[in-house]
Amino acid sequence: MAGSGSDSDGQQYDATPFLPRRGGLPAHRRAAADCRGCPLFQDATQTVFGAGSTSARVMLVGEQPGDQEDRQGEPFVGPAGGLLRKALQDAAIDVDQTYVTNAVKHFKFTIATRGKRRIHKPPSLRDMTACRPWLNAELRLVDPEVVVALGATAGKALLGSSFRVTKDRGTLIPFPEEEGQRRAAADGGGLVVATLHPSAILRSDDREAAYAGLVSDLRVAAGALAGKS
Ligand code: URA
Ligand code: SF4
Repeated sequence: MAGSGSDSDGQQYDATPFLPRRGGLPAHRRAAADCRGCPLFQDATQTVFGAGSTSARVMLVGEQPGDQEDRQGEPFVGPAGGLLRKALQDAAIDVDQTYVTNAVKHFKFTIATRGKRRIHKPPSLRDMTACRPWLNAELRLVDPEVVVALGATAGKALLGSSFRVTKDRGTLIPFPEEEGQRRAAADGGGLVVATLHPSAILRSDDREAAYAGLVSDLRVAAGALAGKS
């Protein structure tokens, strides 16, 4: 098998040729709408690019759009998004001062054997690698002070494959230098805080405890901002 991708045909995919050479977030959002960097665009409705404040101090990174996000074209507009906004409020982070995006910009799913329900399928390392140039562009253009990784997929995308959400959550982790954020050079480095994915909290047996954990991790991110301002 050629290549290092985890899927069976071994082919490599990459969004890079679809990125604009210049321009800000709006130009990138427009270009991402036509991305064909990997096969995920074929079955999904549309690209779901990040949304929020261009000058956000906090950027939240999820896994990939869900069913609702795929239909509406906006990240975190479904049930997980509702929970996330409540948790941000409870952690005293102004939602209007955040930028929200995903590690992968197209919805990956299978169709239920009976009926038509679309069931979320976790993105592979190859999907994340293909889509990574968009996330890198968002990191560079928004240049947040703190990045919140929502769940294991985002954690691995941002911090590498040895990342474990149970072990690494709720602490300030220096942003890996090779990601080339402007802030890394300008300001002694950006920070990442990892936490559970809001969807995992909705599925949890002890939702209340899981939710409290999310809020507590988000407070670590809020505290890092307070320490910087
Ligand atoms: N889950 C995610 O990871 N991202 C979304 O945008 C919605 C649900
Ligand atoms: Fe492009 Fe990412 Fe969509 Fe693949 S998932 S087509 S790389 S935007």
